[in-house]
Amino acid sequence: MSLHGKNIIIGISGGIAAYKIPLLVRLLVKAGAQVQIIMTPAAHDFVTPLTLATLSNQPVLTDLVARKDEGTWNNHVQLAQQADLILIAPATANTLSKMAHGQADNLLLTVYMSAKSPVMIAPAMDLDMYAHPATRHNIDLLQSYGHIIIPATKGELASGLTGYGRMEEPEIIFEQITGFFEKKKLLTGQKVLITAGPTYEAIDPVRFIGNHSSGKMGIALAKEAAQRGARVVLVLGPTCMQINHNNIEVINVQNAAQMYDAVHRYFNKADITIMAAAVADFTPQKTAKHKIKKTNETLSLQLTKTKDILTSLGKIKKDKQILVGFAMETDHEKENAQKKLIKKNLDFIVLNSLNNPHAGFKHDTNQVSILLRNGDIIDYPLKTKTQVAQDIFDVIFEHLTKA
Ligand code: CTP
Repeated sequence: MSLHGKNIIIGISGGIAAYKIPLLVRLLVKAGAQVQIIMTPAAHDFVTPLTLATLSNQPVLTDLVARKDEGTWNNHVQLAQQADLILIAPATANTLSKMAHGQADNLLLTVYMSAKSPVMIAPAMDLDMYAHPATRHNIDLLQSYGHIIIPATKGELASGLTGYGRMEEPEIIFEQITGFFEKKKLLTGQKVLITAGPTYEAIDPVRFIGNHSSGKMGIALAKEAAQRGARVVLVLGPTCMQINHNNIEVINVQNAAQMYDAVHRYFNKADITIMAAAVADFTPQKTAKHKIKKTNETLSLQLTKTKDILTSLGKIKKDKQILVGFAMETDHEKENAQKKLIKKNLDFIVLNSLNNPHAGFKHDTNQVSILLRNGDIIDYPLKTKTQVAQDIFDVIFEHLTKA
């Protein structure tokens, strides 16, 4: 793929993996990209600016103030706004932490914080630093800002230890970048409606009936659609996950009835709708106005069925609209999912596996099968929810191009 006309900023922080960046720069320049290198001061210990400047055909930038004596400075806002993509590689634990928490004490961080473009991050560090809860949390935060993480791989590390923490190879990062620009166009102009998270059905002002859904799968879908150029409306049940992406409009709802209303407000205009939310099937018939006191030995709640949102959409869906549901089954999984697909008039149904302990609620990974209307079933291995979201949109895209 040609990267002609693409402005890519590569931010290099101070890790040993920085020595691999010249190879990546060469690949990008060969593909036609304009590459601007920005280094943190610490990165100078690992790779020479001269090599990078020569390969990128541009001076390397490090300081906010370009020439102290002349009073000129490197305009971080302008740099950031010209970029089509900012890649931070290698991203050390320190740089990840500063990015996650909005610290801006060098040029690279000020450019990152001024960015309007998508951001890719390829972490690299020793295995214990990579596994540390602080780093995991920072990576989660950066992901929640809509950034694309290129996970570190397993291998021999600079310390001599072996484990996760190796920066992904330059050739693979290059493929991710070209893939990103190819994909970006795939859903341009499409409107995508996604639901995510649980619903909370109020019993009284302080109690509710809910479920363990974290919203991670639906949020991964929303981000993937946005990265592919779609305008996304995400109807999100109560979750602590944060989401901040230019192409994603978040509509927060609490309960199944509100989710029903929000979805129906946007469905008509949506080209693709994916119901990933774990909607409560039952809701208390009455919500007590005041907190229920424990005066009695027992408490009975009368529950009524919520409206099945997906079924209601299947009934009004136009031929051109794509409607995708999720299913979770404990027995005769595929058979039941296939029945649901037909009954709810869906184009695809994504069957969550209950057999893998690392899949489903709250995990970052999921194992699914995608069932098609023609009876085809695609089984996938355990993957990150981001990868599962990619698989789902790959299937949708194939369907769109065939239609
Ligand atoms: N769903 C919905 N509205 C509801 C309940 C579920 O739109 N009130 C959607 C979910 O978002 C999911 C799909 O229906 O995409 C399947 O949900 P699931 O709970 O597996 O199936 P149900 O249709 O509720 O059937 P059952 O629980 O009887 O298996």
